[in-house]
Amino acid sequence: MSGEKFRVSPEETAKQKEYTELVRALIDSRFGSKPLAYVHTYGCQGNVSDGEYIKGMLSEMGYGLTDSLDDASLILYNTCAVREHAEDRVFGNVGALKNKKAENKDLKIFLCGCMMQQPHIAEKIRRSYSFVDVVFGTNVIHRLPEFVYKSLSQGKKITEIPSGDGVISEEMPIHRDSDYKAWLPIMYGCNNFCTYCIVPYVRGRERSRDPDIIVAQAKELVAQGYKEITLLGQNVNSYGKSPDYGVNFASLLRRINAIEGDFRIRFMTSHPKDCTRELLDTMAECEKVAKHLHLPFQSGSDRILKAMNRGYTADKYYSLVEYAYKVMPELSITADVIVGFPGETREDFLKTVELVKKCGFTSMFTFIYSPREGTPAAKLPDPVSREEKGIWFRELLSVQEEVASKRTAASVGRVYRVLCDGVSKAGLIEGRTEGNIIIEFPADKSVLGTYRDVEVTESLTWILRGRMI
Ligand code: SAH
Ligand code: SF4
Ligand code: F3S
Repeated sequence: MSGEKFRVSPEETAKQKEYTELVRALIDSRFGSKPLAYVHTYGCQGNVSDGEYIKGMLSEMGYGLTDSLDDASLILYNTCAVREHAEDRVFGNVGALKNKKAENKDLKIFLCGCMMQQPHIAEKIRRSYSFVDVVFGTNVIHRLPEFVYKSLSQGKKITEIPSGDGVISEEMPIHRDSDYKAWLPIMYGCNNFCTYCIVPYVRGRERSRDPDIIVAQAKELVAQGYKEITLLGQNVNSYGKSPDYGVNFASLLRRINAIEGDFRIRFMTSHPKDCTRELLDTMAECEKVAKHLHLPFQSGSDRILKAMNRGYTADKYYSLVEYAYKVMPELSITADVIVGFPGETREDFLKTVELVKKCGFTSMFTFIYSPREGTPAAKLPDPVSREEKGIWFRELLSVQEEVASKRTAASVGRVYRVLCDGVSKAGLIEGRTEGNIIIEFPADKSVLGTYRDVEVTESLTWILRGRMI
């Protein structure tokens, strides 16, 4: 039972602590006031969690954090590679920094995250965006103090994207974005190699964190007053296999559920191939686990599921959904689906529509297939035009819209326990139901960060309106 082989060595950790001190000293001698860092993260919650560690390290080095690009002396983009659109946005935003750098030679521009882990992207940045100072990959986030120090002290350009299976650092400081909702990564990487997906290539092999560390952190979060903990992994259902901790995801959930306190547990993402009845039973039994399951199905056609290497059939998926509703009648299921996988026909697409009509999702994230360099699917013939895929995409959205609005309409008059966690543009308090549906209601800002009972008065397809009782 050893996670050591995945762990960043104590020597490396000590080295990064020294770099942190060196940066602090350098900042003290060079800047009149605290320099500010602007950190922006794209992509999934796993990346957002990395961004919180990045901010934690920068704070410890002596940087303040800012939301303003103009005030920043260090700008860092933590990028995502999952679809072309995500990458285009990064290129656009990085391109816009060229003038800023020309006006201020001391400005530091750092790029990291999944997109940078791809050698062809790092090469493109080096060639066409030569004003970028530092590019680093997903395997070396813990070495940020070293990169900052070298960049500040020597002004050298750095590109560091070592490949490899990936590591875990348990020593990074963290700056959490919220005072009451916390991300808690339980595993990193992915072994599934769905044929369309870039994640396994840029995130390395699946590796679970030590359950004792996770549980201790969850306890600490609860003691600090966090009201919601979201456990993160690309496939949480295979938690604990590598290294083998003898603790599967269901038993990890039970251990966290047993922590005393008033808090809710969420998790994502579940892969249907590894989603077991034991897990669904455990969700049903654990009162702190939100009755919300994000269970991407990607396609309703067995032929396409096979070509995607997903490891289940549409029937198997639907039987999981049926069982889940049976043991949790109040369950809210959300999903991801891809339209226009290479070789998908109208007939395949209609099978997806059929599945969506049956499953009663509260919401669904629909994506048009985007070819990712280096993945098997990117080499497949893809005869259906972008326009045609666009038509299918809109068709599927309207099917789901009907499913969702029926569900939300049925909740009018009901009362939900809601964690108040934001203010809408119209000045209403926003929160999420246990099923992760947004609900807006008039209330004072002092309710933020607390649980309140809210009665639904109106349903608007995707969100609800209500009043606090
Ligand atoms: N690990 C999660 C998914 C992470 S990526 C899982 O297996 O369910 C989030 C979503 O992006 C995926 O569920 C998929 O629907 C979508 N996605 C991933 N690669 C894509 C691609 N190449 N084109 C379009 N959508 C993609
Ligand atoms: Fe990508 Fe599949 Fe892994 Fe999810 S399970 S991250 S879709 S390869
Ligand atoms: Fe994007 Fe990387 Fe997450 S590719 S979706 S940020 S794991």
